[in-house]
Amino acid sequence: MSLISLIFFLLHSFYPSQSLPICRDSCANIQIDYPFAIDDGCGAPLYRNMLNCSTTFTPLATPANTTTPVLTPTFTTTTTTPSTTVLFFQTPSGSYKVESIDYASKTLTIYDPSMSTCTILQPHHDFLMSDLQSALIPPSPDTIFALINCSIDSPVLNHYKSLCFNFSTDHSCDELYASCTSFKIFQMLSNDTPPACCFTSYSTLKFMSMNILDCTHYTSFYDVDKLKEEDKPLDWSYGIKLSYSLPDIGCDRCRRSGGTCGFDVETEGMLCICSPTFNSTRQCGNVNKHLLRFFTFTHF
Ligand SMILES: *[C@@H]1O[C@H](CO)[C@@H](O)[C@H](O)[C@H]1NC(C)=O
Ligand SMILES: *[C@@H]1O[C@H](CO)[C@@H](O)[C@H](O)[C@H]1NC(C)=O
Ligand SMILES: *[C@@H]1O[C@H](CO)[C@@H](O)[C@H](O)[C@H]1NC(C)=O
Ligand SMILES: *[C@@H]1O[C@H](CO)[C@@H](O)[C@H](O)[C@H]1NC(C)=O
Ligand SMILES: *[C@@H]1O[C@H](CO)[C@@H](O)[C@H](O)[C@H]1NC(C)=O
Repeated sequence: MSLISLIFFLLHSFYPSQSLPICRDSCANIQIDYPFAIDDGCGAPLYRNMLNCSTTFTPLATPANTTTPVLTPTFTTTTTTPSTTVLFFQTPSGSYKVESIDYASKTLTIYDPSMSTCTILQPHHDFLMSDLQSALIPPSPDTIFALINCSIDSPVLNHYKSLCFNFSTDHSCDELYASCTSFKIFQMLSNDTPPACCFTSYSTLKFMSMNILDCTHYTSFYDVDKLKEEDKPLDWSYGIKLSYSLPDIGCDRCRRSGGTCGFDVETEGMLCICSPTFNSTRQCGNVNKHLLRFFTFTHF
């Protein structure tokens, strides 16, 4: 290696942060860390393509057509176009906005904009995860799905009655019909008793679609173990909390050596990304420091 190329190598190795990072570590103010990633080849291969950081540009109102022909293109809109960046969790049933990721408790909360809540009534839309996702990052035990306005023929009112449960003695499904502006309609439409409702877990939705369940609406909320008696449905946390597990493929060693965990996009074998120009299979060595010492002593 010539002196010049050695200098270049050292400069390059020492200032990796000056070049664009290979693995972005945030999206929409949400920290992105192992096992998640928004760039392919980063994070754990099992979590590949689960997250997507998407920026949408809101088109500005189209300017009124002028009679004068536009001779020169104007670039004013490119700098002022408002944009929103959203982190999405992708499943076979759609893309769901990620509200937060808690690395300490290993949970991620997502929100399905098409589901009903205590304030909005929306036609049901199945929520379905892939088999890999259900195994790796399933809804947490404190996430409850409420099936609303189920017909009298619904499996959860008949053969699969046992799939419905009360998650607490303080709260019942009837409370949703009684206190949510969105669900009051069901009580109003039925002169006597409101239609059936069922609190259940994700596994019920996984095995039976909403059509099979024969319920017209659903909602979901999490942190039910923190709900107190006086917490009204309006204040519950609507959304789905997912609880993930960390694949143990030796990422700790890579991180301790200053690297970022990733994988080879073709083989999906683990890679320890040390700098934009250097990937190792396990950990980042002290190659640069040794070289610098060698360089310093030999040439100055
Ligand atoms: C290191 O790995 C990442 C992720 O697979 C890849 O994007 C990058 O090109 C690799 N860099 C080198 C120098 O091989
Ligand atoms: C502007 O002109 C385009 C092309 O002639 C036309 O399609 C569009 O409807 C017009 N918009 C308005 C607001 O007049
Ligand atoms: C990310 O998700 C959005 C929203 O569903 C979708 O429009 C976009 O195509 C996705 N991008 C990638 C790279 O998958
Ligand atoms: C409730 O469910 C019944 C069928 O069981 C359906 O006919 C009715 O339209 C539903 N109510 C609303 C408000 O969607
Ligand atoms: C849940 O609670 C309600 C009201 O307290 C009760 O009517 C219902 O039978 C209970 N359901 C189950 C499955 O225990």
